[in-house]
Amino acid sequence: MKRDFLNITDLKKEEIFYTFEKAKEYKEKRKNKIPLEKIMQGKSFGLLFEKPSSRTRLSFEVGIYQLGGFPLFMSSENLQLIRGENIIDTAKIFNLYLDGLIIRTFQQKEVEIISKYVDFPVINALTDQFHPCQVMADFFTLWEIYKNFKNITLLYIGDGNNICNTLILGADILGIKMNICTPEKYKVKKEIWDMVKNKNLFNETIEPKKFIKESNIIYTDSWISMGQEKEKNKRKKVFLPYQVNKQLVKNAPKKFLFMHCLPAHRNWEVTDDILDGPNSIILKQAENRLFVQQALLYFLYK
Ligand code: CP
Ligand code: NVA
Repeated sequence: MKRDFLNITDLKKEEIFYTFEKAKEYKEKRKNKIPLEKIMQGKSFGLLFEKPSSRTRLSFEVGIYQLGGFPLFMSSENLQLIRGENIIDTAKIFNLYLDGLIIRTFQQKEVEIISKYVDFPVINALTDQFHPCQVMADFFTLWEIYKNFKNITLLYIGDGNNICNTLILGADILGIKMNICTPEKYKVKKEIWDMVKNKNLFNETIEPKKFIKESNIIYTDSWISMGQEKEKNKRKKVFLPYQVNKQLVKNAPKKFLFMHCLPAHRNWEVTDDILDGPNSIILKQAENRLFVQQALLYFLYK
């Protein structure tokens, strides 16, 4: 039976670690300039993107190419989708030509529907609700640094959005302690909490400074996710007290790490000095997208 990666919960804990080991191998090979085994030879992958992307698109296109496969980028604006051909009819056509689909869109439901009409693996490259490829790379990055997750407490501060939701579900699987700090109006939704098994791992607050002292990882994301541009001014006002800046991290553990999935709105959710400072691991996160996604492809097609 085909395996999809529509959410991080599609992988069991041991499968996540299996993927991390493979990602580590791919990373070492790149470092030592060893070409990869062409396990995707003869396979064509559609990349259907209904929202912009730099990291995800690049890392998938390059990653698939390095594995011998053919990545075909499709913007929804250039498909008949824009003229009203529906997603099921489109999925049935994808099924005739492709061997895999990587999709970035709005509703998670859409990704789930497409998966039902194709015989090959579907990978979620971001929806309004989840961003599992990003969070796999984020936790791989922490695993590389700390070797295990025992002494980690991750504070997510900002919008209770797709990144936050996926970090919560991933932390739940991996047993990572997590503090979540959002404005009242932008809290994590009940349907996400309903998916969580180990509720004792999580604390929530609306008070920005509350968990700073005890959190050795501080993660934030944009206050305006793709599709929310009209709410820009309203959101900026509400989120300003949640900005990650010198003042906020004053009482953080000395060796705290700063994380961000990028793209960042510089000096909105995080100030330049933190984003570019010695505690920031943003480029490691971005770099690891490539290896983790290659490992994920290996896992889904093995
Ligand atoms: N982090 C991330 O998914 O970046 P892109 O939107 O550039 O793909
Ligand atoms: N929350 C952001 C993540 C971008 C990678 C968005 O959905 O736009």
